[in-house]
Amino acid sequence: MPLVDYHEQFAAVYDALYAERDVLADTRYAAALLELDGHRKPDAHVLDFGCGSGSHVLALGRLGIAATGFDTSPAMIARAMAKPVPRPSADVRFVTGAFTDFCAALNGHCFDGAISLFQVFNCMDSPGEMLAHLRLIRDRLATGARFLIDLWNGAAVFTDDPRPDASSFRCPDDPSKEIVRITIPHLDRINQRCTLRYRILTLDGTRGREQDAFESVHQITFLTPVQYRHLFELAGLNIIDEFRRGHPGNPVTERDWYISYLLGGD
Ligand SMILES: C[S@@+](CC[C@H](N)C(=O)[O-])C[C@H]1O[C@@H](n2cnc3c(N)ncnc32)[C@H](O)[C@@H]1O
Repeated sequence: MPLVDYHEQFAAVYDALYAERDVLADTRYAAALLELDGHRKPDAHVLDFGCGSGSHVLALGRLGIAATGFDTSPAMIARAMAKPVPRPSADVRFVTGAFTDFCAALNGHCFDGAISLFQVFNCMDSPGEMLAHLRLIRDRLATGARFLIDLWNGAAVFTDDPRPDASSFRCPDDPSKEIVRITIPHLDRINQRCTLRYRILTLDGTRGREQDAFESVHQITFLTPVQYRHLFELAGLNIIDEFRRGHPGNPVTERDWYISYLLGGD
């Protein structure tokens, strides 16, 4: 029986699968878009919604920006909390559980910026669930605060179907190990859902012998730009920029699989 998404085994290999990302550079870019870079706002506190294994939260701390990482996966939060906090660092913390409880426990505290990187909202079951979370985040944004969100671009998914894939990664903790990820996608165009069935193998890199294998199934709900814009409007979030991920100011096309929005709450 395959396990569903961000469980312990998947959390254990997550950083290896995405090791090619330059997290510090991505965090600097996010901080600049939120207008929190260069100590423009020395006491700023950022929410990382769906922080995963915590890399961006720790990088924000390293840049002198306090951050709280929230994620529904206890396994991902455990990975985040096990990482050393760079010194010096602004205040960083991690929270898991129900997002409504998290928001209630804030006692009215608002964030000076929010990020949700790497398609967190697409893990949700429906547009209604996305809208409810957008509204909760909007209510916790301070006046003038910005929210950067990455999403799957449904227009590109319809143009360029997800294909089966096999990729290999070096294990950063142990370079003698190789991790192989086999992806079998299934696209449901009517319900705008894509099921990504991953089979993850850990191989002894020298002999190619299998040491471990497991499955993880990720359900992705994807919308088109028109549909995302409608959700943002319903949530009371205004669009400052809609762009190809990583390229502010560049309009998205049906060839761009990933889309980002820079949003404002007022
Ligand atoms: C692709 S990972 C992205 C993690 C991180 N933002 C990054 O850039 O590496 C998606 C994350 O979203 C989390 N997630 C999924 N649904 C969520 C929800 N409703 N609320 C908060 N986190 C959620 C998952 O547990 C997972 O850690």
